[in-house]
Amino acid sequence: MEWNDRVVLLDHPIVQHKLAILRDKHTPSNEFRDVVRELSLFETYEATRDLPLTNVFIQTPIAPFDAKQITGRKVAFVPILRAGLGMVDGALEVIPRARVGHLGMQRNEETHEPESYYDKLPRDIASRRVYVLDPMLATGGSAEAAVKYLREAGVAGTIRFLCLVSAPEGIERLLAADDDLIIYTCAIDDGLNENAYIVPGLGDAGDRIFGTE
Ligand code: PRP
Ligand code: URA
Repeated sequence: MEWNDRVVLLDHPIVQHKLAILRDKHTPSNEFRDVVRELSLFETYEATRDLPLTNVFIQTPIAPFDAKQITGRKVAFVPILRAGLGMVDGALEVIPRARVGHLGMQRNEETHEPESYYDKLPRDIASRRVYVLDPMLATGGSAEAAVKYLREAGVAGTIRFLCLVSAPEGIERLLAADDDLIIYTCAIDDGLNENAYIVPGLGDAGDRIFGTE
């Protein structure tokens, strides 16, 4: 499958520098959390680059001016629990008025497939522009289940999936699952190991964010 413009890789030097901190197994939980928040802010900034604008007429202290303001559908961020929670604050720094929906999913350690245990979405999710947040896109099972759930909830138009580290297997699976979806990622790693962990990856993102290793 051609990834073309459906996968956006954030290869900015500051992003790569911060990602190295996440990958380092010696990085403590508090610093890990901070860096996840910072990278999520940068990624949300990038993923909102195409928000539509409208003209608004304002008066600066010096002169009248035709300024621009964001218009169109309102935004919802949907973190996949738990690890996606680590990305919410950074995303909300970019769009403070966005609503936040939650999808609880846990990978079964044997099958590596996700099991859903919680969901709570904004009532008007179907009319919102949706950004799914999860730092890890490994097999793509959790992401695929989340996107299917959102489509069943009526979400139309492009869904943007924001992760920090991805595996080619997960990218293929997610792009095949939904043809109106864009993936934003800070890294595309080599692949998965026998436990379906991303290699080299950064380990278990949820455990490292919440200090439950
Ligand atoms: C991790 C991660 C993703 C999922 C990715 O969550 O945050 O949701 O695994 O793997 P996949 O692409 O193979 O589905 P995990 O199930 O470990 O739960 P947690 O966030 O509660 O730690
Ligand atoms: N979930 C994680 O947190 N890390 C991986 O490498 C794969 C799934």
